[in-house]
Amino acid sequence: MRKKLVVGNWKMNGSLARNAALLDGLATRGAVEGVDVVVCPPFPYLQQASEVCRGSSLGVGGQNLSVFKEGAYTGEVSASMLLDVGCAWVIVGHSERRSLFGETDDLVAAKVVAALDAGLSPILCVGETLAQRDAGQAEAVVCEQLRCVLQAVGVDRFVDVVVAYEPVWAIGTGRTATPEQAQAMHREVRTYLERSGVAGGKVRILYGGSVTASGAPQLFSAPDIDGALVGGASLVAESFLSICAAAAAH
Ligand code: PGA
Repeated sequence: MRKKLVVGNWKMNGSLARNAALLDGLATRGAVEGVDVVVCPPFPYLQQASEVCRGSSLGVGGQNLSVFKEGAYTGEVSASMLLDVGCAWVIVGHSERRSLFGETDDLVAAKVVAALDAGLSPILCVGETLAQRDAGQAEAVVCEQLRCVLQAVGVDRFVDVVVAYEPVWAIGTGRTATPEQAQAMHREVRTYLERSGVAGGKVRILYGGSVTASGAPQLFSAPDIDGALVGGASLVAESFLSICAAAAAH
């Protein structure tokens, strides 16, 4: 049985005061039974989140990491630094990193390796653009993104990777993939992993892209959807907790 996982990707949002209210709203509500819940604030606020979440069931993750361990890499943040400030998780290869900051499949693969080597759980984002979907290439694009990581990580260690399927056209657009579209891609991902020799039944595959409290129950009822990576709706305690509760109900 794969335990459901709901991850809040705060992106570049927040302030000490706003985070305090949001974290308080999440932490004081108590554990969501049967679901792993993680928040990923911007780097400067990780320590703040870790302090509030300590002793609660909430996990904390970074939104990115460096492939390097330490040294003269201005502006970079290493895996060990994330661990040091209380992170157990890290998002890798988000489509905004790929499209706005030039992250290639190879760089993303190296970051997943860096995370695993340090003992962080990577949440690997994959997903196609609308043009790629319209051209019938969605599955091929996603499988190629997975292949690069698989090659770098190896089949045995890939079970420690969480995959987040985030169709680029659904991120921040209010246009969610239908549960059928999402389930079909999740099945494709799991089948691809199994064909490649990974124990695919053990890998958690999250859906991301305009997930809301109202749409979450239907998504979570799909057999291969093991949770969600939530952007906008994770900035409001009420809606994020409703999504977590929907995960618990399935
Ligand atoms: P969204 O973002 O929920 O605001 O669409 C999801 C993500 O980018 O991880």
